[in-house]
Amino acid sequence: MHPDDLVRERFHFLVNAPALFNAVTTAFELRLFQRLSGHPGTTAEDLRSWSGLPAHQLRVLLQAVCATGLLRRTEDGGYVNSATAQELLASDEDDSWGHILVGWKEVYYPAFAQLTTALKAGTNTALDAYPGTGTTLYQRLAHQPQLEEVFHRAMTAFTLRSLDALVARPEFASVGHLLDVGGGDGTTSFRLAERHPEMTATVFELPTVSRLASNHTDRVTLHPGDIFEDAFPTGADAVLFSHVLEIFSPEQISRLMRKAYDALPPGGKVFVYGYNVSDDETDGVFSARLSLYFNVLASGQGMAYPAADYENWLTGAGFDRVTTIRGFPYEHGLTVGEKHSS
Ligand SMILES: C[S@@+](CC[C@H](N)C(=O)[O-])C[C@H]1O[C@@H](n2cnc3c(N)ncnc32)[C@H](O)[C@@H]1O
Repeated sequence: MHPDDLVRERFHFLVNAPALFNAVTTAFELRLFQRLSGHPGTTAEDLRSWSGLPAHQLRVLLQAVCATGLLRRTEDGGYVNSATAQELLASDEDDSWGHILVGWKEVYYPAFAQLTTALKAGTNTALDAYPGTGTTLYQRLAHQPQLEEVFHRAMTAFTLRSLDALVARPEFASVGHLLDVGGGDGTTSFRLAERHPEMTATVFELPTVSRLASNHTDRVTLHPGDIFEDAFPTGADAVLFSHVLEIFSPEQISRLMRKAYDALPPGGKVFVYGYNVSDDETDGVFSARLSLYFNVLASGQGMAYPAADYENWLTGAGFDRVTTIRGFPYEHGLTVGEKHSS
């Protein structure tokens, strides 16, 4: 295929994608993928009496989801999940992509109508739709507990989807006590502690978010606070920033890296995990979406910085042996540094 034919094909898909995205999210909310997982080959008529949807509206929805390839109609007129729908959307478990879609539908994409305005203004103008005075979405969501729940369920699902390769890294085997900065509900710390039975961890999070996921080890504890305003808790021999630094500006990131350096003993390690746009900043659809979302809504700054930026900031804060492990799923990278031993 000629390279421009591919661009044209992608163009045609992407201009229809907002509608198709919503069709797929609606199908998850109506539990169509979940239903077809247990009852593959169900006909439109049976789906209609099961869902209670008007026949015509169900027909329109099924056509849209079939057009994405996520559902397929069999020769007998029944509907089945594709292998991808079965893997990503057919369950309600914590790691279901369905929770991510609902979070993007409820929080991310309504804000994108403001993109031109926000980029011209140089600030996250879509935040005006949220009550409160904080300058980030994380602070404002404290006033809307239900939406905050949806948002964090989406974040946890994405974390679970992108965590296995991180948890398997041998660099964590030598960590005794981990400080998980902006650690959300502790999902990452829990999974690391599960993998490394000697490890303990402290999750440093905003007070309103500071609720640990339930049914987990007591080797993970909470330290509610603001990572900029409050001192980093001491006693850790490693600091993890997972999906956190990209929210902020280069100046703020440098401040956080210096705080990490000061909190660590000699030989202590720092880990930066998250999205990395390609080195030449011309590729990465996950990175592009995330960077735009930060600038239109979440913080008004930040982006999925290239790995080289993190390496420079770590070196600037005094860390050495700085290196990046690349090739994680979803355009993720892990940049590691060590505080001088002497
Ligand atoms: C994208 S989430 C990442 C959560 C988790 N580390 C993960 O990888 O799933 C960013 C987290 O940073 C937290 N955060 C943002 N600003 C903060 C601040 N000033 N102090 C403490 N936590 C903050 C948010 O509440 C949110 O849970």
